[in-house]
Amino acid sequence: MPNIVEANKLVKQYPGASTPAVRGVSFAIQQGEIFGFLGPNGAGKTTTISMLSCLLKPTEGSATVTGFDLIRQSAEVKRRIGLVPQDLALYPTLSARDNLSFFGRIYGLKGSDLRQRVDDALKMVGLSDRAGDAVETFSGGMKRRVNIAAGLLHKPEVLFLDEPTVGVDPQSRNFIFENVESLNQDGLTVLYTTHYMEEAQRLCDRVAIIDQGQIIALDTPKALINSLGGGIIHLGVPPEMPESLITHVERLPNVQSVAHTDGKMEITTQQAQHALIGVIEVFNEANVSITSLEILEPNLETVFLHLTGKRLRN
Ligand SMILES: Nc1ncnc2c1ncn2[C@@H]1O[C@H](COP(=O)(O)OP(=O)(O)OP(=O)(O)O)[C@@H](O)[C@H]1O
Ligand SMILES: [Mg+2]
Repeated sequence: MPNIVEANKLVKQYPGASTPAVRGVSFAIQQGEIFGFLGPNGAGKTTTISMLSCLLKPTEGSATVTGFDLIRQSAEVKRRIGLVPQDLALYPTLSARDNLSFFGRIYGLKGSDLRQRVDDALKMVGLSDRAGDAVETFSGGMKRRVNIAAGLLHKPEVLFLDEPTVGVDPQSRNFIFENVESLNQDGLTVLYTTHYMEEAQRLCDRVAIIDQGQIIALDTPKALINSLGGGIIHLGVPPEMPESLITHVERLPNVQSVAHTDGKMEITTQQAQHALIGVIEVFNEANVSITSLEILEPNLETVFLHLTGKRLRN
């Protein structure tokens, strides 16, 4: 499959900011993929999407989108991408249909073609029966879906969805997932940003984990999770713990690696429950007490925690 997006060392330095928001991001999205950006608030997800949709000029680096150069061929790029921004932009007193007609005209659509595209887009997001109602009477999730429909009007080859489920009720959230999946099955490539690891895990073929403007891991959710083995054990330990104890833990069956910093021990395991039995024995024999214990199941949240020492959401 050809690459539909290729980003090469993109950098964005906002004027006056002390550090760049995006610091040399490179990745490729294959045609037909749902590609995820998973990262906490301020990671640089929106800034990256804004560069790829020609809303922001990169400070450094380059990219192609649908084979066209982001900077030299921006008109071609804009015609082929659909952007669903993080912030809703709808006219509350207008109906869903009139909102979409308005956006369609911006894309240069008119007449029966415009009407047809608006109807198709409303159908794709499951809002045909509410098409004539004012958007201000919609739930948060329904408004989101109107926004998604707006991004689909001109039949883009790739859709950029920026945190489409924030502030959305669970039912609408599921509806959005199903929409994204069925659009993807019909051939649409999707770049999906989120700070919910469950979403990245469920929807995305591959996920780039992004933090502080950099991609710190990129793979299928399965491979990312497998990289942690069978879970992580976090122990609180006394500051003056003997070094030999770490060696003993490292040698235990089911233990992959051990990291130790002041008062905390992180044990990456093949199977956390099994490893734990051995770990407790080692501590008992050395007569060292464990001050706290936490077992982290392998998931994308744990991968993030392992890579950054932080949680995705606080
Ligand atoms: N217009 C701007 N001017 C200056 N700094 C900005 C601007 N927009 C974003 N930033 C900063 O750039 C960094 C990345 O922000 P960005 O909005 O890309 O993150 P994000 O991953 O989309 O976060 P969120 O999950 O909160 O949407 C943050 O530190 C943010 O404060
Ligand atoms: Mg954002």
